[in-house]
Amino acid sequence: MRVLITQPIPLAAVTLLKENNIDVDVHDKEVLSYEQLTQKAKDYSGLVTMLSDKIDAKFLENNSHLKVIANYAVGTNNIDVAAATKIGIKVGNTPDVLTNATADLALALLMGVSRNLLPAAKSVKDGKWSKWEPLGFRGVELKGKTLGIFGAGRIGQCFAKKCKTALGMNILYSSRSQKSDFETSYDAQKVSFEKLLEQSDVLSLHCPLTDQTKGLMDVERFQQMKTGSILINTARGELCDQSALFEVLRSNHLYGAGLDVTTPEPLPADSPLLSLENILILPHIGSATFSTREEMAKLAAHNIIAGLNSRQLIAEVVE
Ligand code: NAP
Ligand code: GLV
Ligand code: GLV
Repeated sequence: MRVLITQPIPLAAVTLLKENNIDVDVHDKEVLSYEQLTQKAKDYSGLVTMLSDKIDAKFLENNSHLKVIANYAVGTNNIDVAAATKIGIKVGNTPDVLTNATADLALALLMGVSRNLLPAAKSVKDGKWSKWEPLGFRGVELKGKTLGIFGAGRIGQCFAKKCKTALGMNILYSSRSQKSDFETSYDAQKVSFEKLLEQSDVLSLHCPLTDQTKGLMDVERFQQMKTGSILINTARGELCDQSALFEVLRSNHLYGAGLDVTTPEPLPADSPLLSLENILILPHIGSATFSTREEMAKLAAHNIIAGLNSRQLIAEVVE
């Protein structure tokens, strides 16, 4: 039984796999292209994949011998899960262990955008800050403002709790199903997507990328957002039409945006988004804390071990 980990992850994964008599190769050279991974996977029964590895139906047909694919992420939009399930390849992900870290990062983005941390810090670093300015760098106060969560799952609810308790924000949400415990504990109110757009001072996206959510935020929806509001996206870049986002930021219809995710990743150097002052873009680091990445490594390894032994995965994704 051989397993390939497509990029180096914390060693805990390798240790666990070896303890279970599984041979492990970690690909630690230049990232494998789609074609290279398609070829290389032929020598393995299990793969630990990154969210940047595209595992589509063709890849799976060419590698139907695989028993298990453990994605080192909670999002599995890079994998054609329906095709894998049809062939009988199990797919795992890493839910829960990264919820708090990702919600923390959404909070960091929100504070960064609302208080202009990037331009303010840059002015100091560039030696441009010359005096205390009574009118300078004024931002948006969040207390008493309304946070709108789109996709009130694990991370969405966790972020809402932080905003309610730490910042004193009011919570609205849109999701497919009602979340009674969330409503009771955090005074959260379920509203239509239209109301969420119209009433939120901060709109934060937390749904998975699916055929239904791709392009969710288009020109019209960005226009429906409140003037002076803030967009936070820690979910997936493809949820937003980026040229529409550029326009509402350039025209200052939105106060600002904080993105941990874009499409593509990384953005090309000439992306218009990079020229804006009122945007804070991070390199997809939602789960990037030492402890969370460690727990993700262990969970991915446990998913592999279960899959290779034809058992149900601890975190199995089915479609
Ligand atoms: P989750 O618990 O499954 O939450 C997702 C929520 O979205 C669910 O509550 C779900 O609906 C809702 N949803 C799905 N489709 C919807 C639709 N069409 N309309 C409205 N709501 C919809 O997942 P999670 O663990 O919170 O993770 C969420 C996403 O965050 C992941 O899929 C991933 O893409 C992203 N993520 C990013 C990072 C990062 O590093 N930036 C880290 C982790 C995760 P119901 O419950 O209402 O049915
Ligand atoms: C990161 O984006 C994840 O889906 O875990
Ligand atoms: C600010 O530093 C103040 O003292 O108000």
